[in-house]
Amino acid sequence: MNSQKKEWESLFGREYTQRNMFTPSELDKLYLDRYGVTRTGMNHEFLDLLDRDIMILEVGSNIGNQLHLLHNMGFKNLYGLEINSYAIQKSNKLNIELPIYVIKGEALNLPFKDSFFDLIYTSGVLIHINPKNIRKVIDEISRCSKRYIWGFEYYHDEGYKEIKYHGQNNMLWKTDFKKLFLENHPEFKLLKEKHYHYLENNHLTDQMFLLEK
Ligand SMILES: C[S@@+](CC[C@H](N)C(=O)[O-])C[C@H]1O[C@@H](n2cnc3c(N)ncnc32)[C@H](O)[C@@H]1O
Repeated sequence: MNSQKKEWESLFGREYTQRNMFTPSELDKLYLDRYGVTRTGMNHEFLDLLDRDIMILEVGSNIGNQLHLLHNMGFKNLYGLEINSYAIQKSNKLNIELPIYVIKGEALNLPFKDSFFDLIYTSGVLIHINPKNIRKVIDEISRCSKRYIWGFEYYHDEGYKEIKYHGQNNMLWKTDFKKLFLENHPEFKLLKEKHYHYLENNHLTDQMFLLEK
């Protein structure tokens, strides 16, 4: 088992979940304070033109807040894959009345048939995959997506850079994730990319991208 998987499955993942028990509108406020735009605002800019009936999977969905924001935009078929059982329990409880379905699974081995979803996305998840394993995750997401890949991840423009995460090594890396998809899966083309700078730490940048097959 890789060490990142072990951490996210265990107490480390549970503590992350407990620290981040925001409501969807609190999450929006957090984005507004950090980037000057809500997550809902970002989502509209990238996804407004997409059909609301498409099948969507979030890999690493935690308590389901990102899926909840997509539900608020009118998307109807929302699925999550999550490695941490405590987060899944919370997600299922919080979203019991919404069409949001989360199952336990792992990004390196998606338990779905080829092209099963119209859109697959990650938000703050590829950054936690060891660079030794990232190619497998990129391949899995590309395999299971019929049409779109959407991402929001920490950005670094010159190769990989490791950052300490809550005092721990070997848990967080940033790079140009869109480039990894495009280099390894030329069947996908870039539709849109935007960089969001942190208002307070303006040397930090996150990247949102939308790819289409
Ligand atoms: C930083 S959180 C992001 C949560 C959510 N996507 C968001 O934007 O609010 C990362 C989530 O990915 C999950 N995760 C980490 N590695 C994973 C893996 N290999 N497969 C599936 N989920 C994973 C963690 O348990 C955690 O819930």
